[in-house]
Amino acid sequence: MSVYLGIDIGTSGTKTLAIREDGAIVASATAEYPISHPKPGWSEQNPEDWWQATIKTVQKVLKSGGVKKDDVAGIGLSGQMHGSVFLDKKHDVIRPALLWNDQRTAAECDEITHAAGGRERLIEMVANPALTGFTAPKILWLRNKEKKNFDRAVKVLLPKDYVRFRLTGEFASEVSDASGTLLLDVKNRTWSKELLGKLQLDPSLMPAVYESEEVSGKLTPETAKTLGLNAGTPVVGGGGDNAAGAVGNGIVKSGVAFATMGTSGVVFTHSDEMQVDPQGRVHTFCHAVRDKWHVMGVVLSAGGSLQWYRNQLGQEEIREAKKRKIDPYELITAQAASAPAGSEGLYFLPYLTGERTPHADPYARAAWIGLTPRHGRPHLARSVIEGATYAMRDCLEIIEGMRIPVREVRLGGGGGRSPFWRQLQADVYGKRCVTTNATDGPAFGVALLAAVGTGAYKDVPEACKATIKVTGESKPDAKSQKAYNRVYPLYGKLYRSLKEDYRAIRDLVGG
Ligand code: XUL
Repeated sequence: MSVYLGIDIGTSGTKTLAIREDGAIVASATAEYPISHPKPGWSEQNPEDWWQATIKTVQKVLKSGGVKKDDVAGIGLSGQMHGSVFLDKKHDVIRPALLWNDQRTAAECDEITHAAGGRERLIEMVANPALTGFTAPKILWLRNKEKKNFDRAVKVLLPKDYVRFRLTGEFASEVSDASGTLLLDVKNRTWSKELLGKLQLDPSLMPAVYESEEVSGKLTPETAKTLGLNAGTPVVGGGGDNAAGAVGNGIVKSGVAFATMGTSGVVFTHSDEMQVDPQGRVHTFCHAVRDKWHVMGVVLSAGGSLQWYRNQLGQEEIREAKKRKIDPYELITAQAASAPAGSEGLYFLPYLTGERTPHADPYARAAWIGLTPRHGRPHLARSVIEGATYAMRDCLEIIEGMRIPVREVRLGGGGGRSPFWRQLQADVYGKRCVTTNATDGPAFGVALLAAVGTGAYKDVPEACKATIKVTGESKPDAKSQKAYNRVYPLYGKLYRSLKEDYRAIRDLVGG
């Protein structure tokens, strides 16, 4: 049976997965790399790290899965969205890539909105307002702040598309990830010549854009040799990590939402028509399914908040977990479970790296509010998990307010792996939450896209139907749901009370 590789260039590491046509996992491997924050609000990575992690994980998967190169029928690529890789005319990387959670571009967002003729006109052209994490403001930042580097740039690529270039020699992207550049005419699924013109950006900076399951290039002989694969192996478009994760969880029809907590948290819904939030609080992007779209809300530090808690305050749990050979998160969530729903009035605002949905505020900061001597470590841990989950409920409420129905929520990422967090999500959202057999999210989704693009399935929904099954469910507990309905409204109010103070902090420390 044919084998398909899915490669996901994540923020904390790259994951490569090999699956068979029926969805069975053959092997998987991950390799981590660092992220740097050279100034407050900045977030960068070295594209070469992604490439080295790709080589390492593909080689590992082929070896550990005993996969023969003749069996590999296709490759799909997924990755963190919005990042900017600038290449010079020799196709070398000019500077470290600015990432999705980088917040340095507030002035450039204003510049774009102005050049477009206002926020409404901008949304008409590219379906979304200018947000600091998106790619277009990063390009303008380079032009404004590092003019010499800008003058050298001949191509701008998204993270997974840089890896595609190293694999195939092609400059190509696909519609779901390209939507997050703010330069795609999302309705017509092609670059917006109009906006590129208004921003005085040369269209040749952008790569060719494909549908997600279309073949975008083939492995070069040299790369094939390095990886241990056949030259000419097709590489399909793939998807931004959220659209890819949605495919990997079967979110290819209306009524089902996907709530995933990686570093960021995302609430994702499929949409048959293009639907836009006039206030621009959620993003409207092309889906990785032909002629379909998606609407999603993005919480910048969801799992990232708990990761911060673990690293900064969970040293004891890290040590204990090492001794017992378990994951420190197991100990942290067990502790959190011993505090009551609502953490006895302790709130955590999860804005460690600013926030997108619903505030679009690069200056927002994280905070604990409501501390008393009664509160101990269980409350601290629980309130972090609750704060991240309230932020996800913010997204869900906006989406439902757009009359996009959500009957069921499929859970992914760290929030889907922990039984405690699964139940907490069901209670906070007040919805039936389910898990599926596809726990490898984006990498699984793009391996499926490779299977579709090379002819194993007629289309993406058919591939999902054949391979993805619901495996577990958590229903809201009436008592906890009631408790959360009482405490949640104050969570949003706390941000509004602090908004101006966040700006004052920014003025004090910069960023
Ligand atoms: C989506 C977004 C994040 C990244 C994380 O708009 O910025 O979810 O894709 O990988």
